[in-house]
Amino acid sequence: MPGAKKVHVRTFGCQMNVYDSERMAESLKAYGYSETDSAEEADLIILNTCHIREKAAEKVYSELGRLRQLKEERRQDGHQTQVAVTGCVAQAEGAEIVARAPVVDIVVGPQSYHRIPELLFRAAAESRALVETSFPEEDKFNQLPRRARAPTASAFLTVQEGCDKFCTFCVVPYTRGMEYSRPVAALVEEAVALVQSGVAEITLLGQNVNGYHGEGENGGAASLAALIRRLVQIEGLERLRYTTSHPRDMSDDLIEAHATEKKLMPYLHLPFQAGSDRVLAAMNRKHTAAEYIDLVARIRKARPDIALSTDIIVGFPGETEAEFAATLAVVEEVGFAQAYSFKYSARPGTPAAKIDAQVPEPVKTERLHRLQALLDTQQTRFNTSCVGRTFPVLFERSGRREGQLIGRSPYLQPVHAFAAAELLGRIVSVEILGAGPNSLSGVIQAV
Ligand code: 5AD
Ligand code: SF4
Repeated sequence: MPGAKKVHVRTFGCQMNVYDSERMAESLKAYGYSETDSAEEADLIILNTCHIREKAAEKVYSELGRLRQLKEERRQDGHQTQVAVTGCVAQAEGAEIVARAPVVDIVVGPQSYHRIPELLFRAAAESRALVETSFPEEDKFNQLPRRARAPTASAFLTVQEGCDKFCTFCVVPYTRGMEYSRPVAALVEEAVALVQSGVAEITLLGQNVNGYHGEGENGGAASLAALIRRLVQIEGLERLRYTTSHPRDMSDDLIEAHATEKKLMPYLHLPFQAGSDRVLAAMNRKHTAAEYIDLVARIRKARPDIALSTDIIVGFPGETEAEFAATLAVVEEVGFAQAYSFKYSARPGTPAAKIDAQVPEPVKTERLHRLQALLDTQQTRFNTSCVGRTFPVLFERSGRREGQLIGRSPYLQPVHAFAAAELLGRIVSVEILGAGPNSLSGVIQAV
Protein backbone atom coordinates (compact mmCIF):
# COMPACT_ATOMS: atom_id res chain seq x y z
CA MET A 1 0.00 0.00 0.00
CA PRO A 2 1.61 3.32 -1.04
CA GLY A 3 2.54 5.56 1.89
CA ALA A 4 1.48 2.97 4.47
CA LYS A 5 4.89 3.03 6.13
CA LYS A 6 7.28 5.86 6.86
CA VAL A 7 11.02 6.12 6.39
CA HIS A 8 13.30 8.71 7.98
CA VAL A 9 16.75 9.13 6.43
CA ARG A 10 19.57 10.94 8.23
CA THR A 11 22.53 11.80 6.09
CA PHE A 12 26.06 12.43 7.31
CA GLY A 13 29.12 13.45 5.32
CA CYS A 14 29.51 14.23 1.66
CA GLN A 15 27.22 15.06 -1.25
CA MET A 16 27.52 11.51 -2.58
CA ASN A 17 25.70 10.41 0.56
CA VAL A 18 23.02 13.08 -0.06
CA TYR A 19 22.51 11.65 -3.54
CA ASP A 20 22.46 8.04 -2.26
CA SER A 21 19.94 8.97 0.45
CA GLU A 22 17.60 10.42 -2.16
CA ARG A 23 17.87 7.31 -4.30
CA MET A 24 17.27 5.02 -1.31
CA ALA A 25 14.14 6.94 -0.26
CA GLU A 26 12.90 6.83 -3.85
CA SER A 27 13.47 3.10 -4.16
CA LEU A 28 11.58 2.42 -0.94
CA LYS A 29 8.47 4.16 -2.32
CA ALA A 30 7.72 1.07 -4.35
CA TYR A 31 7.59 -0.86 -1.07
CA GLY A 32 5.02 1.47 0.47
CA TYR A 33 7.32 3.85 2.32
CA SER A 34 6.84 7.61 2.26
CA GLU A 35 9.50 9.95 3.65
CA THR A 36 9.19 11.73 6.99
CA ASP A 37 11.33 14.36 8.72
CA SER A 38 10.49 12.91 12.10
CA ALA A 39 12.33 9.87 13.45
CA GLU A 40 9.56 9.45 16.08
CA GLU A 41 6.95 8.47 13.51
CA ALA A 42 9.24 6.38 11.29
CA ASP A 43 8.85 2.63 10.78
CA LEU A 44 12.28 2.60 9.22
CA ILE A 45 15.23 4.83 10.19
CA ILE A 46 18.25 4.93 7.93
CA LEU A 47 21.52 6.45 9.11
CA ASN A 48 23.61 7.09 5.99
CA THR A 49 27.03 7.47 7.52
CA CYS A 50 30.49 8.95 6.91
CA HIS A 51 33.82 7.43 7.96
CA ILE A 52 36.20 10.10 6.67
CA ARG A 53 37.25 11.40 10.10
CA GLU A 54 36.91 9.88 13.54
CA LYS A 55 34.39 12.50 14.71
CA ALA A 56 32.07 11.75 11.82
CA ALA A 57 32.14 8.02 12.57
CA GLU A 58 31.57 8.51 16.30
CA LYS A 59 28.43 10.60 15.65
CA VAL A 60 26.77 7.45 14.36
CA TYR A 61 27.17 5.62 17.64
CA SER A 62 25.76 8.47 19.71
CA GLU A 63 22.82 8.63 17.31
CA LEU A 64 22.30 4.86 17.65
CA GLY A 65 22.20 5.28 21.43
CA ARG A 66 19.29 7.70 21.04
CA LEU A 67 17.54 5.38 18.60
CA ARG A 68 17.66 2.48 21.05
CA GLN A 69 15.46 4.47 23.41
CA LEU A 70 13.17 5.59 20.60
CA LYS A 71 12.72 2.04 19.32
CA GLU A 72 11.80 0.88 22.80
CA GLU A 73 9.27 3.72 23.28
CA ARG A 74 7.66 2.92 19.94
CA ARG A 75 7.56 -0.78 20.82
CA GLN A 76 5.66 0.04 24.01
CA ASP A 77 3.17 1.96 21.85
CA GLY A 78 2.76 -1.13 19.66
CA HIS A 79 4.92 -0.03 16.71
CA GLN A 80 7.81 -1.91 15.14
CA THR A 81 10.83 0.14 14.09
CA GLN A 82 13.66 -1.04 11.88
CA VAL A 83 17.06 0.65 11.93
CA ALA A 84 19.46 0.54 9.00
CA VAL A 85 23.06 1.76 8.95
CA THR A 86 24.32 2.51 5.44
CA GLY A 87 27.27 4.43 3.97
CA CYS A 88 30.96 4.29 4.74
CA VAL A 89 30.80 3.36 8.44
CA ALA A 90 28.63 0.41 7.41
CA GLN A 91 31.21 -0.63 4.84
CA ALA A 92 34.21 -0.15 7.14
CA GLU A 93 32.83 -1.62 10.36
CA GLY A 94 30.20 -4.11 9.17
CA ALA A 95 29.27 -6.62 11.87
CA GLU A 96 31.06 -4.57 14.56
CA ILE A 97 28.18 -2.09 14.38
CA VAL A 98 25.65 -4.74 15.33
CA ALA A 99 27.90 -5.95 18.14
CA ARG A 100 28.24 -2.42 19.52
CA ALA A 101 24.65 -1.37 18.83
CA PRO A 102 22.13 -4.25 18.85
CA VAL A 103 19.38 -1.73 17.97
CA VAL A 104 20.55 -2.07 14.35
CA ASP A 105 18.60 -4.39 12.04
CA ILE A 106 20.62 -4.13 8.85
CA VAL A 107 24.06 -2.84 7.89
CA VAL A 108 24.44 -2.14 4.17
CA GLY A 109 27.54 -0.91 2.33
CA PRO A 110 27.30 1.71 -0.46
CA GLN A 111 27.37 -0.86 -3.25
CA SER A 112 24.28 -2.77 -2.13
CA TYR A 113 21.53 -0.18 -1.63
CA HIS A 114 19.30 -1.89 -4.18
CA ARG A 115 19.12 -4.84 -1.78
CA ILE A 116 17.73 -2.85 1.20
CA PRO A 117 14.05 -3.90 0.80
CA GLU A 118 14.96 -7.57 0.64
CA LEU A 119 17.34 -7.28 3.60
CA LEU A 120 14.69 -5.50 5.70
CA PHE A 121 12.19 -8.22 4.95
CA ARG A 122 14.62 -11.02 5.76
CA ALA A 123 15.88 -9.36 8.96
CA ALA A 124 12.28 -9.11 10.22
CA ALA A 125 11.38 -12.65 9.13
CA GLU A 126 14.49 -14.18 10.68
CA SER A 127 14.52 -11.87 13.75
CA ARG A 128 18.22 -11.19 13.42
CA ALA A 129 20.53 -8.47 12.19
CA LEU A 130 21.92 -8.79 8.65
CA VAL A 131 25.15 -7.33 7.30
CA GLU A 132 25.77 -6.80 3.57
CA THR A 133 29.13 -5.24 2.75
CA SER A 134 30.31 -7.14 -0.30
CA PHE A 135 31.12 -5.46 -3.59
CA PRO A 136 28.60 -7.17 -5.88
CA GLU A 137 29.15 -7.66 -9.59
CA GLU A 138 25.96 -5.89 -10.63
CA ASP A 139 25.84 -2.10 -11.01
CA LYS A 140 23.75 -0.73 -8.15
CA PHE A 141 22.66 2.27 -10.22
CA ASN A 142 21.03 -0.03 -12.79
CA GLN A 143 19.20 -1.86 -10.03
CA LEU A 144 17.70 1.23 -8.40
CA PRO A 145 14.47 2.64 -9.81
CA ARG A 146 14.63 5.61 -12.19
CA ARG A 147 14.63 9.13 -10.79
CA ALA A 148 11.12 10.11 -9.80
CA ARG A 149 10.96 13.57 -8.38
CA ALA A 150 12.58 16.97 -8.63
CA PRO A 151 14.10 17.58 -5.19
CA THR A 152 14.99 21.21 -5.97
CA ALA A 153 16.10 23.40 -8.87
CA SER A 154 19.60 22.08 -8.29
CA ALA A 155 20.28 18.35 -8.13
CA PHE A 156 23.19 15.99 -7.65
CA LEU A 157 24.04 13.26 -10.12
CA THR A 158 26.63 10.65 -9.18
CA VAL A 159 28.67 9.87 -12.30
CA GLN A 160 31.64 8.13 -10.72
CA GLU A 161 32.28 6.31 -7.49
CA GLY A 162 35.32 5.05 -5.65
CA CYS A 163 38.93 6.09 -5.85
CA ASP A 164 42.19 4.44 -6.92
CA LYS A 165 44.47 7.21 -5.72
CA PHE A 166 45.16 5.82 -2.24
CA CYS A 167 46.15 9.01 -0.48
CA THR A 168 47.70 7.59 2.68
CA PHE A 169 45.29 9.39 5.06
CA CYS A 170 42.07 8.44 3.30
CA VAL A 171 39.55 5.64 3.87
CA VAL A 172 37.64 6.21 0.64
CA PRO A 173 39.50 3.62 -1.49
CA TYR A 174 38.55 1.05 1.17
CA THR A 175 34.96 2.09 1.84
CA ARG A 176 33.87 3.00 -1.69
CA GLY A 177 36.15 0.64 -3.57
CA MET A 178 37.90 1.06 -6.89
CA GLU A 179 36.89 3.71 -9.40
CA TYR A 180 33.74 2.98 -11.33
CA SER A 181 32.25 5.32 -13.93
CA ARG A 182 28.64 5.11 -15.07
CA PRO A 183 27.98 4.98 -18.83
CA VAL A 184 27.21 8.27 -20.62
CA ALA A 185 23.85 7.02 -21.94
CA ALA A 186 22.55 6.23 -18.43
CA LEU A 187 23.69 9.64 -17.18
CA VAL A 188 22.06 11.49 -20.07
CA GLU A 189 18.82 9.64 -19.38
CA GLU A 190 18.94 10.53 -15.69
CA ALA A 191 19.86 14.16 -16.42
CA VAL A 192 16.97 14.52 -18.90
CA ALA A 193 14.56 13.12 -16.30
CA LEU A 194 15.85 15.60 -13.72
CA VAL A 195 15.49 18.54 -16.12
CA GLN A 196 11.97 17.44 -17.08
CA SER A 197 11.03 17.52 -13.42
CA GLY A 198 12.21 21.12 -13.06
CA VAL A 199 15.93 20.89 -12.37
CA ALA A 200 17.99 23.75 -13.87
CA GLU A 201 21.39 22.93 -12.38
CA ILE A 202 23.15 19.59 -12.04
CA THR A 203 26.27 18.93 -10.00
CA LEU A 204 28.13 15.87 -11.24
CA LEU A 205 29.47 13.90 -8.29
CA GLY A 206 32.33 11.51 -7.79
CA GLN A 207 35.03 10.94 -5.18
CA ASN A 208 37.44 11.51 -8.03
CA VAL A 209 35.03 12.97 -10.55
CA ASN A 210 37.58 14.23 -13.05
CA GLY A 211 38.96 10.70 -13.30
CA TYR A 212 35.60 9.86 -14.93
CA HIS A 213 36.01 7.46 -17.86
CA GLY A 214 32.57 6.03 -18.55
CA GLU A 215 31.46 4.17 -21.62
CA GLY A 216 30.64 6.66 -24.40
CA GLU A 217 27.42 6.59 -26.40
CA ASN A 218 29.26 5.15 -29.39
CA GLY A 219 31.45 2.78 -27.40
CA GLY A 220 34.95 3.71 -26.20
CA ALA A 221 35.69 5.66 -23.03
CA ALA A 222 34.39 9.19 -22.52
CA SER A 223 36.26 11.74 -20.39
CA LEU A 224 34.55 14.11 -17.95
CA ALA A 225 34.99 16.89 -20.54
CA ALA A 226 33.22 14.71 -23.14
CA LEU A 227 30.41 13.98 -20.68
CA ILE A 228 30.05 17.71 -19.94
CA ARG A 229 29.95 18.54 -23.67
CA ARG A 230 27.16 15.99 -24.09
CA LEU A 231 25.13 17.14 -21.07
CA VAL A 232 25.20 20.85 -21.99
CA GLN A 233 23.18 19.93 -25.08
CA ILE A 234 20.18 19.07 -22.91
CA GLU A 235 17.65 21.82 -23.42
CA GLY A 236 16.46 23.33 -20.15
CA LEU A 237 19.63 22.38 -18.31
CA GLU A 238 21.12 25.77 -17.50
CA ARG A 239 24.07 25.05 -15.26
CA LEU A 240 26.60 22.30 -14.68
CA ARG A 241 29.11 21.84 -11.88
CA TYR A 242 31.27 18.93 -10.80
CA THR A 243 33.02 17.84 -7.62
CA THR A 244 35.49 16.55 -6.25
CA SER A 245 38.54 16.72 -8.47
CA HIS A 246 42.09 15.47 -8.09
CA PRO A 247 44.81 17.81 -9.44
CA ARG A 248 46.44 14.93 -11.29
CA ASP A 249 43.29 14.29 -13.35
CA MET A 250 42.74 17.92 -14.38
CA SER A 251 43.28 17.19 -18.08
CA ASP A 252 43.78 19.79 -20.81
CA ASP A 253 40.39 19.02 -22.39
CA LEU A 254 38.66 19.58 -19.05
CA ILE A 255 40.47 22.89 -18.56
CA GLU A 256 39.48 23.82 -22.12
CA ALA A 257 35.83 23.03 -21.31
CA HIS A 258 35.95 25.80 -18.70
CA ALA A 259 36.82 28.22 -21.49
CA THR A 260 34.26 27.03 -24.05
CA GLU A 261 31.24 25.69 -22.14
CA LYS A 262 29.15 28.58 -20.90
CA LYS A 263 26.86 26.31 -18.88
CA LEU A 264 29.84 25.07 -16.89
CA MET A 265 29.93 27.35 -13.86
CA PRO A 266 33.12 29.27 -13.01
CA TYR A 267 33.78 27.44 -9.76
CA LEU A 268 36.14 24.57 -9.07
CA HIS A 269 36.77 22.55 -5.94
CA LEU A 270 40.36 21.36 -6.21
CA PRO A 271 41.86 19.93 -3.01
CA PHE A 272 45.59 20.43 -2.47
CA GLN A 273 45.75 19.05 1.12
CA ALA A 274 49.23 20.40 2.04
CA GLY A 275 51.88 22.83 0.83
CA SER A 276 55.07 20.96 1.69
CA ASP A 277 56.42 18.61 -0.97
CA ARG A 278 57.66 16.20 1.68
CA VAL A 279 54.18 16.00 3.22
CA LEU A 280 52.54 15.75 -0.21
CA ALA A 281 54.81 12.80 -1.04
CA ALA A 282 54.06 11.16 2.33
CA MET A 283 50.36 11.66 1.56
CA ASN A 284 50.91 9.97 -1.84
CA ARG A 285 49.24 12.94 -3.54
CA LYS A 286 51.26 12.50 -6.74
CA HIS A 287 51.81 16.24 -7.21
CA THR A 288 54.06 18.96 -5.78
CA ALA A 289 53.05 22.41 -4.55
CA ALA A 290 54.61 24.01 -7.65
CA GLU A 291 52.63 21.68 -9.94
CA TYR A 292 49.42 22.65 -8.17
CA ILE A 293 50.18 26.36 -8.51
CA ASP A 294 51.02 25.90 -12.20
CA LEU A 295 47.77 23.99 -12.74
CA VAL A 296 45.79 26.81 -11.13
CA ALA A 297 47.50 29.27 -13.49
CA ARG A 298 46.47 27.19 -16.52
CA ILE A 299 42.87 26.94 -15.27
CA ARG A 300 42.74 30.69 -14.66
CA LYS A 301 44.09 31.32 -18.15
CA ALA A 302 41.16 29.34 -19.56
CA ARG A 303 38.60 30.94 -17.25
CA PRO A 304 40.04 34.07 -15.61
CA ASP A 305 37.13 34.66 -13.22
CA ILE A 306 37.01 31.09 -11.88
CA ALA A 307 36.46 30.87 -8.11
CA LEU A 308 38.59 28.21 -6.45
CA SER A 309 37.80 26.11 -3.45
CA THR A 310 39.98 23.48 -1.78
CA ASP A 311 40.47 20.91 0.99
CA ILE A 312 43.43 21.18 3.36
CA ILE A 313 44.63 18.89 6.14
CA VAL A 314 46.77 20.22 9.00
CA GLY A 315 48.88 18.06 11.29
CA PHE A 316 49.56 15.16 8.97
CA PRO A 317 51.97 12.82 10.83
CA GLY A 318 55.42 14.40 11.08
CA GLU A 319 54.29 17.84 9.83
CA THR A 320 56.73 20.46 11.16
CA GLU A 321 56.03 24.15 11.72
CA ALA A 322 58.00 24.97 8.55
CA GLU A 323 55.98 22.43 6.56
CA PHE A 324 52.76 23.92 7.88
CA ALA A 325 54.03 27.36 6.85
CA ALA A 326 54.36 25.99 3.31
CA THR A 327 50.61 25.25 3.38
CA LEU A 328 49.90 28.86 4.39
CA ALA A 329 52.19 30.02 1.57
CA VAL A 330 50.20 28.08 -1.06
CA VAL A 331 46.96 29.57 0.28
CA GLU A 332 48.51 33.07 0.09
CA GLU A 333 49.70 32.48 -3.43
CA VAL A 334 46.55 30.92 -4.91
CA GLY A 335 43.82 32.85 -3.09
CA PHE A 336 40.68 30.80 -2.45
CA ALA A 337 37.06 31.91 -2.64
CA GLN A 338 36.12 29.14 -0.24
CA ALA A 339 37.81 26.20 1.51
CA TYR A 340 37.39 23.26 3.86
CA SER A 341 40.15 22.60 6.36
CA PHE A 342 40.56 19.68 8.74
CA LYS A 343 42.78 18.41 11.50
CA TYR A 344 44.38 15.14 10.44
CA SER A 345 42.43 12.22 11.90
CA ALA A 346 44.07 8.78 11.96
CA ARG A 347 41.80 6.28 10.22
CA PRO A 348 42.12 2.57 10.98
CA GLY A 349 43.68 0.58 8.15
CA THR A 350 45.21 3.56 6.31
CA PRO A 351 49.03 3.79 5.91
CA ALA A 352 49.33 7.22 7.58
CA ALA A 353 47.72 5.92 10.78
CA LYS A 354 50.76 3.64 11.25
CA ILE A 355 53.28 6.50 11.17
CA ASP A 356 54.78 7.00 14.64
CA ALA A 357 55.22 10.78 14.56
CA GLN A 358 51.58 11.78 15.12
CA VAL A 359 51.22 15.54 15.71
CA PRO A 360 49.85 16.41 19.19
CA GLU A 361 46.21 17.52 19.23
CA PRO A 362 46.86 21.06 20.62
CA VAL A 363 49.40 21.69 17.84
CA LYS A 364 46.87 20.60 15.21
CA THR A 365 44.22 22.83 16.77
CA GLU A 366 46.49 25.85 16.82
CA ARG A 367 47.53 25.32 13.17
CA LEU A 368 43.93 24.87 12.10
CA HIS A 369 42.98 28.18 13.73
CA ARG A 370 45.79 30.03 11.96
CA LEU A 371 44.89 28.47 8.63
CA GLN A 372 41.18 29.18 9.05
CA ALA A 373 41.87 32.82 9.93
CA LEU A 374 43.70 33.21 6.62
CA LEU A 375 41.01 31.34 4.66
CA ASP A 376 38.25 33.43 6.28
CA THR A 377 40.03 36.62 5.25
CA GLN A 378 40.27 35.41 1.65
CA GLN A 379 36.63 34.33 1.56
CA THR A 380 35.46 37.67 2.94
CA ARG A 381 37.68 39.51 0.46
CA PHE A 382 36.21 37.50 -2.41
CA ASN A 383 32.63 38.09 -1.26
CA THR A 384 33.24 41.79 -0.74
CA SER A 385 34.69 42.08 -4.26
CA CYS A 386 31.29 40.99 -5.60
CA VAL A 387 29.43 44.03 -4.21
CA GLY A 388 28.22 46.27 -7.04
CA ARG A 389 28.24 43.46 -9.60
CA THR A 390 25.15 41.85 -11.12
CA PHE A 391 24.94 38.05 -11.09
CA PRO A 392 22.55 35.53 -12.60
CA VAL A 393 21.17 33.82 -9.49
CA LEU A 394 19.36 30.48 -9.50
CA PHE A 395 16.74 30.68 -6.74
CA GLU A 396 16.51 27.39 -4.86
CA ARG A 397 14.57 27.90 -1.64
CA SER A 398 12.71 30.33 0.61
CA GLY A 399 14.70 32.38 3.07
CA ARG A 400 14.00 32.73 6.76
CA ARG A 401 12.45 36.17 6.31
CA GLU A 402 9.03 36.62 4.77
CA GLY A 403 9.27 37.17 0.99
CA GLN A 404 12.94 36.31 0.84
CA LEU A 405 14.44 33.74 -1.53
CA ILE A 406 17.88 32.17 -1.44
CA GLY A 407 19.77 31.22 -4.57
CA ARG A 408 23.30 30.64 -5.79
CA SER A 409 25.62 32.88 -7.76
CA PRO A 410 27.74 31.33 -10.54
CA TYR A 411 30.52 31.22 -7.92
CA LEU A 412 28.32 29.10 -5.61
CA GLN A 413 27.79 31.82 -3.01
CA PRO A 414 24.35 31.83 -1.39
CA VAL A 415 22.51 35.02 -2.43
CA HIS A 416 19.56 36.43 -0.46
CA ALA A 417 17.02 38.68 -2.18
CA PHE A 418 13.39 39.67 -1.75
CA ALA A 419 11.58 38.04 -4.65
CA ALA A 420 8.23 36.51 -5.57
CA ALA A 421 7.91 32.79 -4.87
CA GLU A 422 7.28 32.17 -8.62
CA LEU A 423 10.96 32.87 -9.16
CA LEU A 424 11.95 29.67 -7.35
CA GLY A 425 13.72 27.46 -9.85
CA ARG A 426 14.49 30.39 -12.18
CA ILE A 427 17.70 32.24 -12.96
CA VAL A 428 17.31 35.96 -12.30
CA SER A 429 19.70 38.95 -12.48
CA VAL A 430 20.51 40.22 -9.00
CA GLU A 431 22.55 43.30 -8.20
CA ILE A 432 24.75 42.52 -5.22
CA LEU A 433 24.51 45.15 -2.52
CA GLY A 434 25.90 43.39 0.52
CA ALA A 435 28.46 40.75 1.42
CA GLY A 436 28.96 38.73 4.58
CA PRO A 437 31.52 36.04 5.35
CA ASN A 438 29.27 33.27 3.99
CA SER A 439 26.71 34.88 1.71
CA LEU A 440 25.68 37.83 -0.43
CA SER A 441 22.51 39.90 -0.57
CA GLY A 442 21.06 41.94 -3.37
CA VAL A 443 18.08 43.23 -5.32
CA ILE A 444 16.44 41.76 -8.37
CA GLN A 445 17.29 43.61 -11.57
CA ALA A 446 15.11 42.14 -14.27
CA VAL A 447 12.88 39.12 -14.68
N1 5AD B 1 41.84 13.28 8.32
C1 5AD B 1 41.47 14.55 8.06
N2 5AD B 1 40.92 14.94 6.90
C2 5AD B 1 40.72 13.99 5.97
N3 5AD B 1 40.21 14.05 4.73
C3 5AD B 1 40.21 12.83 4.20
N4 5AD B 1 40.73 11.95 5.06
C4 5AD B 1 41.07 12.65 6.18
C5 5AD B 1 41.65 12.30 7.41
N5 5AD B 1 42.04 11.05 7.69
C6 5AD B 1 39.77 15.31 4.12
C7 5AD B 1 40.55 15.59 2.85
C8 5AD B 1 39.56 15.30 1.77
C9 5AD B 1 38.25 15.68 2.45
C10 5AD B 1 37.03 15.12 1.85
O1 5AD B 1 38.41 15.21 3.77
O2 5AD B 1 40.91 16.97 2.85
O3 5AD B 1 39.79 16.03 0.60
FE1 SF4 C 1 40.72 10.00 -0.66
FE2 SF4 C 1 42.83 10.87 -2.09
FE3 SF4 C 1 40.88 9.44 -3.30
FE4 SF4 C 1 40.36 11.95 -2.48
S1 SF4 C 1 41.85 11.34 -4.06
S2 SF4 C 1 39.04 10.13 -2.18
S3 SF4 C 1 41.57 12.09 -0.61
S4 SF4 C 1 42.26 8.71 -1.70
